[in-house]
Formats: sequence, structure tokens, C-alpha cells
Amino acid sequence: MRREVLADLSAVAELARLIAPALRPGDQLALNGPMGSGKTTFVRALVEALGGDPACVSSPTFTLLHRYQARLPVIHVDACRLDGWPQLAALGVDDDIAADGVLAVEWADRVAEALTPTWRLVFAHAAVGRVVEIAGPLRQNPVR
Ligand SMILES: Nc1ncnc2c1ncn2[C@@H]1O[C@H](COP(=O)(O)OP(=O)(O)O)[C@@H](O)[C@H]1O
Ligand SMILES: [Mg+2]
Repeated sequence: MRREVLADLSAVAELARLIAPALRPGDQLALNGPMGSGKTTFVRALVEALGGDPACVSSPTFTLLHRYQARLPVIHVDACRLDGWPQLAALGVDDDIAADGVLAVEWADRVAEALTPTWRLVFAHAAVGRVVEIAGPLRQNPVR
């Protein structure tokens, strides 16, 4: 576990550029931290770092799930309003979807029993910008 200060959005972009090259199909990023702590912002930076269009990224608070094209498809879930994983599975997030891309889940603790994260990021507000605790990679998926 390491802790990094994300003083501004460029620091978020830098973190995303560190993590993106290590990502493999089937990887899962468990994103936690209070509202406004930077979870969606990190996903946007990650999509950009994977060669996708950051402008496509928005919070799936009401839609629950977004999918973005990039070097690896990114499946972006907001579990904030979910009563556990079965609700999301009903939307089509199953092992097949998760396996060919990268799954990024905000409020991941709400569906923790259904996730096997390769990365855990816990965001928090700070005096300047945000801080994040990072654990990962927690396992290595095969290159495909
Ligand atoms: N490291 C940071 N430094 C400064 N502002 C940030 C940082 N990360 C996120 N923000 C800003 O905080 C606001 C909320 O971020 P967001 O990613 O939507 O939070 P969450 O998804 O955790 O609710 C956005 O306006 C975003 O630009
Ligand atoms: Mg969000």
C-alpha cells in the first residue's frame, strides 16, 4: 500500500499513466472514497491513458454502467445506488464482459463480495487536492 498526494488533475493523469500500461484484460479496479474525492476523475484519466477519449467519461451514477473504447475496453460502474452485485449482473456485467476489458467500480465496497480487484484505490479529500492509497497490482492476469 502506498499513499500519493494528487495535488491537481495533472497528478491524477500522471497516476493513470503509471497504472494504465500494467493493465490486462480482466483486471478490476476497486475505487473507494467519499463523494467528490476523485473516483470518476481517475477513471477519466485512465481512459485517456489507455488511448480513449476522456470526454466520453462521465459518472454512471444513474445509468449504473458505461463502456468506453480504448486500448482495452473500460467498463465503468458506479455501485453507489446498487443493492449488491445481482442488480448489476442483470444489466449485463458478467464474467465475459469483465474478462475482455478492464472493470472500474466506484463505491466498490458495496459490491466487494463480487469483485476480485487487481487494484484498490482509496481516495480522500486533502488540504490541497486529494490523496489516494494505492494497492496493486494484487495479482497478474495473463497477457492475451
Ligand atoms: N486530485 C484532484 N485535485 C483537484 N481536484 C480534483 C482532483 N480529483 C478530482 N477533483 C475534482 O473533484 C470533483 C469531484 O471529482 P469526482 O471524480 O467526480 O469525484 P467522485 O467520483 O469521487 O465523486 C471534480 O470537479 C474534479 O475535477
Ligand atoms: Mg463518481
